Amino acid sequence: MPTELVQIQGLAKRYGDAIVFDGVNFTLTEGEFVCIIGHSGCGKTTILNVLAGLEQASSGHVFMAQREVAGPGLERGVVFQGHALMPWLTVRQNIAFAVRSKWPEWKREQIDAQVQKYVALVGLSPALDKKPSQLSGGMKQRVGIARAFAIEPRMLLLDEPFGALDALTRGTIQDELLKICAATKQTVFMITHDVDEAILLADRILLMANGPQARVAEIVVNTMSRDRQRASLHHDPQYYRIRNHLVDFLVERSATLSHGRAPELPPEVRPGLAPIAEVVSLETHPTPIRSHA
Ligand SMILES: Nc1ncnc2c1ncn2[C@@H]1O[C@H](COP(=O)(O)OP(=O)(O)OP(=O)(O)O)[C@@H](O)[C@H]1O
Ligand SMILES: [Mg+2]
Repeated sequence: MPTELVQIQGLAKRYGDAIVFDGVNFTLTEGEFVCIIGHSGCGKTTILNVLAGLEQASSGHVFMAQREVAGPGLERGVVFQGHALMPWLTVRQNIAFAVRSKWPEWKREQIDAQVQKYVALVGLSPALDKKPSQLSGGMKQRVGIARAFAIEPRMLLLDEPFGALDALTRGTIQDELLKICAATKQTVFMITHDVDEAILLADRILLMANGPQARVAEIVVNTMSRDRQRASLHHDPQYYRIRNHLVDFLVERSATLSHGRAPELPPEVRPGLAPIAEVVSLETHPTPIRSHA
């Protein structure tokens, strides 16, 4: 039985009278890859930062392994959109810094072995002793990913990690990420603007309606087989159903499901919590099966 690793309950963020989002509820299962999609400004990065413990919500709770998240911790690894490497350190030193913070008692050789293992996983061994300024954007992004993986976090948080990359590099790194996640059964929460990326990587896709007062309006279950490949994705008829559903959401429903404009909202309300997102599964049916989480 898969276990729930993370619970997000009634999360809200306000700046004065402005409500960015509220009533955000979802869970992450151990080993699950979840993507979140929504228009710019709806609060995705804020939610990720709250999960990382880098920002405080105005109300609501985040629990990880039954403990409330109250600040940053090394059981959570974050990859930011800009890679956020220390420019004066080499690749090896950047990652060693993170590894040493996680395991201060480790010997030098042990730290270096850990660094080399994860640098090799992202295919960057030849660049071990280079500084960030000597690397391409894609390579820097891979260093950021290696660094997050090297601390072996229970949850990986990725904020549009491939947004700035060209399509070819992005594809290569997506493949690497899929391989590493399959090998390590990593739990991942990732923000993306790219519906194809979400379909390739995610087990479930959270769709955020527009703000103000944004919320997770739908949760789409990715029913395609988990060993899906980027190259053959588009040969699977399910792919188009899911893709159309996501694009329709972004083009239309993200606005119509926006707060106060959704009379068709599911009536179920957990005590003290806002309405629960609709779960959509598009496996073999011409029209989506709808149920409520
Ligand atoms: N200090 C602040 N005061 C008021 N509003 C703020 C402040 N900081 C952020 N916001 C608002 O919070 C909202 C959510 O920002 P966030 O960065 O989480 O959005 P996002 O969904 O990640 O967007 P994007 O897709 O563009 O990255 C934005 O609409 C922004 O205007
Ligand atoms: Mg953002």
